Order: sequence, then C-alpha cells, then structure tokens
Amino acid sequence: MIRSVVKGCGGYLPARIVTNEELAKKVDTSDEWIQQRTGIKQRHIAAEGEFTSHLAIKASERALEHAGIDATDLDLIVLATATPDETFPATATRVQAALGMRNGAAFDVQAVCAGFIYALSVADSLLKSGTASKALVVGAETFSRILDWHDRSTCVLFGDGAGAMVLAAEEGTGASADRGVLANALHSDGRHHDILYVDGGPSSTRTTGFLRMEGREVFKHAVVNMAAVVGEVLDKTGLTSKDIDWLVPHQANKRIIDGTGRKLGLAADRIVLTVDKHANTSAASIPLALDTAVKDGRIKRDDLLLLEGIGGGLAWGASLVRW
Ligand code: ACO
Repeated sequence: MIRSVVKGCGGYLPARIVTNEELAKKVDTSDEWIQQRTGIKQRHIAAEGEFTSHLAIKASERALEHAGIDATDLDLIVLATATPDETFPATATRVQAALGMRNGAAFDVQAVCAGFIYALSVADSLLKSGTASKALVVGAETFSRILDWHDRSTCVLFGDGAGAMVLAAEEGTGASADRGVLANALHSDGRHHDILYVDGGPSSTRTTGFLRMEGREVFKHAVVNMAAVVGEVLDKTGLTSKDIDWLVPHQANKRIIDGTGRKLGLAADRIVLTVDKHANTSAASIPLALDTAVKDGRIKRDDLLLLEGIGGGLAWGASLVRW
C-alpha cells in the first residue's frame, strides 16, 4: 500500500511583530479584549515588498532542509493561499522557480483557513495514485493586505506567515504501513458565503477588496463542524480520540480550539497552540503550528496528529497523520 509519508516541515514568519498594544493605538480596541475573546497577543506582519511567495519560499527551503530532500527531486507543489501574489499565475509556480524545481507540476488551491488541509489532501491523492512521488505542501498568506485596518472586529485577528511540509510516496510494509497521511475529510457549504468573504476580486470589482466577517456566526459553525469532521476522520481509520497524541488545529481562536479539545477529551498539554504569537494566519496556521511543535521536540516520530481547520466558503476539513 502506498502512503504519503512526512519527511520534514518548515515555517517562516515576517520579522515585524505587531502587539495588541500597538494595534490599540490605531483602532478602538484593547489587549484585554483581544486576549479574552481570542487568545491572541501579537501577530507578524509582512514588510512592504514582502509577498506571499517570499514567505512561502523561505518556509519551503526550511522544510526541504529538514527533510534532507533536494528541490530538484520534487515533482509536485500544492500551495494553499487566499492571498496570492497575483491573480495569475499560481503563487506555487513562483515558489517552483525560486526553489529550482523543474519536474512535475506546481499549482495553488484556495480554501482559505482550511486551505492546508485541502492542499494536503490533494497532494496525498496524487502521491497515492502514482502521479507524483515527492510533494511539497505549502500554506502561505499575507492577510494583512486584505484587512480593513479601520475595522476593529477583523483587523485584530489575523497575521502573515507560511508553513510547509515535504511528503514522499512510500510503499509501506509492516509497521511502516501505518505512517504518513492516514485519512482526510473535506467539506464545504457555499450557502454561508455571506458570513466570511472578501468584498472584491478580479471578476466582480476588479479590486482586491477587504475581508468581511460575521465573527459570531463563523464561531457557531466552527464549533459544530470541527466536532463532526474530527469524528469523521477518526471513523475512517478505526482509531479513537484516545489514540491522538497531538491536536494541531487551525489557529483562529483559542476558545474554538479549547472546545474541540474538550470534545475529544484531550488534555490541554496535547493541543498545539500558537494563536497567541501568530494570530490567524489562515492557510499557514496549521503547518506553522506543526513546525513549532516538531522543532521544539514535542511532536516525535510515530506520534498520531489530528489536523483540522475551517474557513471562508465555508470550507472545512481534517487529516490524521502519523508522524
Ligand atoms: N476590540 C474591542 N471591542 C470589539 C472588537 C475589538 N477588536 N471587535 C468587536 N468588538 C465589540 C463589538 O463591537 C461588540 O460590541 P457591542 O456588544 O457593543 O456591539 C462586542 O465587541 C462583541 O462583539 P462580537 O463580534 O459579538 O464578539 P465575539 O465574542 O463573537 O468575538 C470574534 C468576536 C473573536 C471574532 C469571534 O466571534 C470569533 O473568533 N469568531 C470566529 C472567527 C473564526 O474562527 N474565523 C475562522 C475563519 S477565518 C478565515 O477563514 C479567513
């Protein structure tokens, strides 16, 4: 049986850190409000001239180095972003050129905060089908460029960053057959467009637009859908929540993450939390959280990881990965 086995990961955050206190000087908010409602203390913001592809390239280089794999050996890049450098071509092709990858294909997927789960699932399918043999999966965003910095209900929630993962198709035998991506579950429900969207785009307004969100509505859907999709992905494998070593969730709001953890019966120290330092980096948040916990030694080989996320669309999903 062919499995998509994880070979390495990497992350990159822009140098500039913006604290809640700094934001409170620009919009009518406070550190207390932001921390109480979301758990966020700070976020990283890309510099002028620093694009999504630049963040993605740095995270990818680190992931390849961690994996010990040369870019010329890759034959697939799937990059999740809702903030591409340009309307076209795919930001993934910029990453491809910068890394020096010449084989196979590089393309973007767009599922906002669920983007990394979607990208991982697509790469996993292409590896398992034999279409590709070594894949780079990237989540990269510069949400600071689509925020209305006068809207306190949204601008305090997001940050910029990128995370990447290298996967290789391996014929598993014995215990090794149980490593890699074990299962994915993807969902979307386009009826909920109006609670989370960007009010612009090349076909409608010819502008980029700004993020608009009815936070409370998104919150309700997040709690319900996360519980359901987590159960679904576990059912696919016959594993239970007791088997999970680490929950690596999309980092939108600590309260949503705590709720999912409680439903799974997971102790707080089994949940990777980076929302305090990174805020919501959309498609980058899961691979950034993963990279944080791998590099600080919490996540170890053979640990069972549950990745999950929800975002605009609404689109949501979960993956079970044996590290
Ligand atoms: N500072 C101070 N007060 C604020 C701020 C702020 N930054 N923002 C809003 N408020 C005020 C509101 O005006 C409101 O005041 P009022 O009661 O006088 O009208 C009050 O705070 C409460 O506002 P709510 O929006 O009801 O606050 P809530 O408790 O729902 O928290 C939040 C808002 C943090 C956005 C929460 O709803 C949330 O996290 N939602 C989920 C977001 C999410 O998960 N997104 C994931 C996907 S993101 C993507 O896909 C791109």
